[in-house]
Amino acid sequence: MSAADFYTRWADLYDPLSRLIPGIAGLRRKTAVALDLELGDVVVEMGCGTGANLASLREEVGPEGTVIGVDVSAGVLERAREHVTREGWENVHLVRGDATAPPVQRADAVVATFVIGMFSDPERVVEGWCEFVGSGGTVALLNATRSRRAYGPLVNLLFRAFVYASTPGKRRFDDPTEVLDRRVAAGHRTVERRCERTVHDDGALGLVRLTAGRVR
Ligand SMILES: C[S@@+](CC[C@H](N)C(=O)[O-])C[C@H]1O[C@@H](n2cnc3c(N)ncnc32)[C@H](O)[C@@H]1O
Repeated sequence: MSAADFYTRWADLYDPLSRLIPGIAGLRRKTAVALDLELGDVVVEMGCGTGANLASLREEVGPEGTVIGVDVSAGVLERAREHVTREGWENVHLVRGDATAPPVQRADAVVATFVIGMFSDPERVVEGWCEFVGSGGTVALLNATRSRRAYGPLVNLLFRAFVYASTPGKRRFDDPTEVLDRRVAAGHRTVERRCERTVHDDGALGLVRLTAGRVR
């Protein structure tokens, strides 16, 4: 099943989960702040899902700024659109499209949360986002990965089961957690390599990692 179909099928379950997992709201907030946005900026969220980051992003750019959410899945965009309409956010726009070739002309910042693990060549995708915002623009990634903390082995068992259940299009011989870890590490390394003033943080028992920076 494609990622677009998978997330359309599970949109109703994903929507509350993406907002209510303990610790997640704080990490989403930190990610929006790490973008170091100014009032009036344009920020694009790649793979915006049902819109759990939109409120924080909107707060950072203010009513005179613009937030654009891009996602391939019609189902999650429908949920996101419901939130936007209910809140009456006129400066938040949702576009169905591919985050690897964003259907947007320009932006001051790009953010992607729990998305980079879906790309087979995360380095190339993040490179593309850095080129897209250009020198002086900012990029932030927030992703789940195995915990490196002392109690990691225990929480990583649960994490492995969660990743297995929530990975669309698994191939029989791949370990989805290994694949996810590899892709997340490559994506975050690319932000570190391309950016200055990088910010790092983690939370949710060390299972969620934030890397952000300003493109050189
Ligand atoms: C795990 S969800 C994360 C959603 C949201 N960013 C969040 O933090 O809750 C991954 C999202 O990436 C989207 N996605 C996957 N591949 C994509 C692509 N090539 N272009 C745009 N969106 C994509 C999926 O449809 C899904 O909504």
